[in-house]
Amino acid sequence: MAAIATTPSQFELAAWAKTITPSALQDMLSATANPEVISFALGLPAPELFPRHQFSQLASTLLEAEPLALQYGPPSTTLKTAIVSLMAQRGVRCRPEQIFLTNGAQQGMNLLVRLLLADGGSVLLEDCIYTGFQQVLDPFQAKLLTVPTNPETGMDVAAVEAHLAAGQRPSLIYAISDGHNPLGVSMSLAQRQQLVELAQQYQIPIIEDDAYGFLSYQADTIAPMRALSDDWVLYIGSFSKILAPSLRVGWLVVPEWLIERLSIVKEASDIGTATLSQRLVAAYTQTHQLTTHIDQLCQIYTTRRDTMFSALEQHFPSQTRWYQPSHGMFIWVELPTTVDPFKLLDRAINQAKVAFIPGSVFGVAGKSMSTNGIRLNFSNADIDQINAGIERLATIMQTLKA
Ligand SMILES: Cc1ncc(COP(=O)(O)O)c(C=O)c1O
Repeated sequence: MAAIATTPSQFELAAWAKTITPSALQDMLSATANPEVISFALGLPAPELFPRHQFSQLASTLLEAEPLALQYGPPSTTLKTAIVSLMAQRGVRCRPEQIFLTNGAQQGMNLLVRLLLADGGSVLLEDCIYTGFQQVLDPFQAKLLTVPTNPETGMDVAAVEAHLAAGQRPSLIYAISDGHNPLGVSMSLAQRQQLVELAQQYQIPIIEDDAYGFLSYQADTIAPMRALSDDWVLYIGSFSKILAPSLRVGWLVVPEWLIERLSIVKEASDIGTATLSQRLVAAYTQTHQLTTHIDQLCQIYTTRRDTMFSALEQHFPSQTRWYQPSHGMFIWVELPTTVDPFKLLDRAINQAKVAFIPGSVFGVAGKSMSTNGIRLNFSNADIDQINAGIERLATIMQTLKA
């Protein structure tokens, strides 16, 4: 993607900002704002499932009873305590003193990178990963140490070991243990154990991004890596996918000694997480409806995921491959090699009114594990839209000549 054009004259930008490129995901947010477009593009929750009625009542009570809900304020201890219980449901034991509240998972990774990345240091990550994390790294111009990844087996942990055994010492390792974005894959227990052992052996912290971990579509789930190490795994959680992204509330579970430093960096960044949002989420957790709400999301998203599989099976060419995610919001699809995902996207948006993301935009440092992969979101569209959208995509694909 081309860098944003600068107007000559004006003023000098920081070196990294001169070559900054627009995010494909931000562009897509505008493209899919058109209500005619069926969007499989972004990681958006189902809007009709937001607990709007409860929020409306809770917000009104809060604003009447707590004038300080609109004031600057310290992080909510009620919310931290609720997060400790939520983490216990994921098999992670932690204390409120280890919880740090953030403006969503995105800010969590930003603050951690700022604290951990050494000057001129490197970061170890998969060669196909969430673009939001790559954007966090941009200003630091960190050296990127990549390892292969795969929609079936996920991060190649042996390749992580090979880097470390060869003497590489990244400042941090970034991993998504469940519902990888964009591949949908979840790490096996053995992968989690091996990665944590490596982190401990080489004393390199893992940033574990668990934005999708609560959206689980199978009975047996594996606990996040944080359950294996209190000291070397820095866990990122979020209410975006399980409650509502606009609230911008997420959290970190980190060693207690890191909290004060995080507070200082966060203060410089945004002073604090919006008090009203914190209190609203805290009040919602106190209604004890969150677990039921997450269960409902999981049920409905399972049906949507399975509907998408059936529609792919029915309409897509036989040379297409796709992978079944046990968590999250995305299905990774490998199109026949004759289909160029960008050409398909152009026609899909303009003619078929369907949006998706070509997989290569997630490639790190110019690497792209597959040029014909695409990422399809299954949480945002309803069943009728999923059926119609996949059929329309298949029809428009037939009009493409390689
Ligand atoms: C892997 C991953 N991490 C973090 C985020 C950011 O989430 P939040 O809205 O909590 O900032 C996303 C958003 O899509 C994501 O896919």
